[in-house]
Amino acid sequence: MGRLNGKVAIITGAAMGMGASEAKLFAKEGAKVIATDVQLEPLNQVVKDINENGGEAVAIKHNVTSEEEWKFVIEEAVKLYGKVDVLVNNAGVSSPKTIANMEMDEWNKILDINLNGCVIGMKYVISEMKKAGGGSIINISSIGGLVGMAGTSPYTAAKGALRVLSKSAAVEYGKDKIRVNSLHPGIVVTPMTEPSMKDALPFYKTYTQLPYFGEPEDIAYGALFLASDESRFMTGSELVIDGGWTAL
Ligand SMILES: NC(=O)c1ccc[n+]([C@@H]2O[C@H](COP(=O)([O-])OP(=O)(O)OC[C@H]3O[C@@H](n4cnc5c(N)ncnc54)[C@H](O)[C@@H]3O)[C@@H](O)[C@H]2O)c1
Repeated sequence: MGRLNGKVAIITGAAMGMGASEAKLFAKEGAKVIATDVQLEPLNQVVKDINENGGEAVAIKHNVTSEEEWKFVIEEAVKLYGKVDVLVNNAGVSSPKTIANMEMDEWNKILDINLNGCVIGMKYVISEMKKAGGGSIINISSIGGLVGMAGTSPYTAAKGALRVLSKSAAVEYGKDKIRVNSLHPGIVVTPMTEPSMKDALPFYKTYTQLPYFGEPEDIAYGALFLASDESRFMTGSELVIDGGWTAL
């Protein structure tokens, strides 16, 4: 018996990194997965792997900043599987910028993907979750949504806002049995962090208390817990999986 048997889950940014890992783990645990991403080719590969290994998933090209594309994704999920139980707002991009050297276009772009993209998804999935009698929304924030970090202000602003937005949504929709939690990864080795691993390695090592960085699966297991009924009494909370970064 899988931990997500009978559940239908939408996962954004599922072509690589944590999103791909979440898609594979959720499918292995019995969920029907709607995997979405702007990059269709690697996304198709993830979905092919799932379907060839006994799971069930579909791939949809989807830019999370597009309201029309969000509507389409949710309509497709309902058309294919009749409901949506879980949304993982995972798609995100980093921004190596300090406040004084960033252009406002950059600020808007990062907020658009990392925050507004999640807001649109929540806006449209909540009515479907109400119809299904409840659901779980997992907003992938960051340690940057909990503590300050130099050189990545638009990113931390978006991730911090996502943390409190999750709490407000939890309060608004608790009575509908819709749970909303934020998940805060520390440094995890993915295509997002690999380019910075050389220059930022001493910084990452100073703050990560364990003598290794996270792997995508470490975060996927946290998302699995939040998606499953094992976390049925958890809402408006932060799940921090950061190798001890914020323990300092
Ligand atoms: N890797 C880390 O150390 C780390 C730490 C904390 C938080 N996070 C967060 O975890 C999430 C996943 O990060 P990751 O490291 O796996 O990243 P990644 O770069 O490996 O993967 C992100 C995926 O999101 C997709 N994406 C980007 N913009 C999109 C858009 N507009 N619409 C749809 N898809 C889009 C990309 O194509 C990619 O497949 C992100 O929200 C990130 O901010 C990552």
